Amino acid sequence: MTKRKPTPREPMLSGRLALITGANRGIGLAIARALAREGCNLIVTGRDERALARARTELDKLQSEKVREKLNVPVLAQSCDVRSPDSVDYLFALVRGLRKPLDILINNAGIGHPNRAVGELPYPTWMEVVDTNLNGLFLMTQAALAVMKRGSTIVNNLSIAAERAFPGSAAYNASKHGALGFTNTLREELRPKGIRVIALMLGATDTALWNTLWPEAPRRKMMSAETVAHTVVNALLLPENTTVEKIVVMPSSGTL
Ligand SMILES: NC(=O)c1ccc[n+]([C@@H]2O[C@H](COP(=O)([O-])OP(=O)(O)OC[C@H]3O[C@@H](n4cnc5c(N)ncnc54)[C@H](OP(=O)(O)O)[C@@H]3O)[C@@H](O)[C@H]2O)c1
Repeated sequence: MTKRKPTPREPMLSGRLALITGANRGIGLAIARALAREGCNLIVTGRDERALARARTELDKLQSEKVREKLNVPVLAQSCDVRSPDSVDYLFALVRGLRKPLDILINNAGIGHPNRAVGELPYPTWMEVVDTNLNGLFLMTQAALAVMKRGSTIVNNLSIAAERAFPGSAAYNASKHGALGFTNTLREELRPKGIRVIALMLGATDTALWNTLWPEAPRRKMMSAETVAHTVVNALLLPENTTVEKIVVMPSSGTL
């Protein structure tokens, strides 16, 4: 029997505008790919401009002509350091220039640090991690709120480290615990405005993050970034009057 090719379904988020931080690789890029397939117009950011240019070329190819016609812009790839108020301001000047509200914000940019007990953790490492994972989340969200309307969604990529404590990861754990507190507060503030806020709580996912966190970690036990992206898109596809407030996605083997 000859196998029938499945009929491609219509994109479900056609013409929506989505901004993803840290989208030049890893989970951010996987989410950007999944949103491109669902017909979103994309703004992707990160600091490494070469990686960002590669991501843009790839995402441009995934977007259909139909999608581009709706906004008349190709994928917008803009270098942005989430720790820098000036860099975030510049990015949002470009977003405002599109003259279209932002429908989806994926706060994904984040870093880990080498395994060190608190007594040996260098203060600059602590500062860098908290600045990126917590202060950056605040800066991006505050700037985005000015261009978001009822019906839009914010997804904050936290971690299971936002609720659990992993020894040797004090700065990462603390930044993600803080980011969860921020996310929960934001959700209550935005509830009356009809903006959904989702806490994404992931277990180990196979990305470059583990090169700093634990280089020898067993990658085969980890989830793929594509699997994570799939769960995020499913949450974004829920009707406007429904939300998942917290998505917990884990490797079936549990923590590593
Ligand atoms: N991998 C996991 O197991 C796992 C589990 C739970 C949660 N997470 C979370 O998932 C998110 C994405 O991580 P990943 O695993 O995909 O790691 P990754 O491959 O290292 O990606 C991190 C992304 O964040 C960007 N980034 C880092 N610092 C930035 C800054 N100051 N300004 C702007 N962008 C910055 C990076 O781009 P540039 O370096 O070019 O800026 C990169 O695109 C993080 O928030 C992480 O905490 C990951």
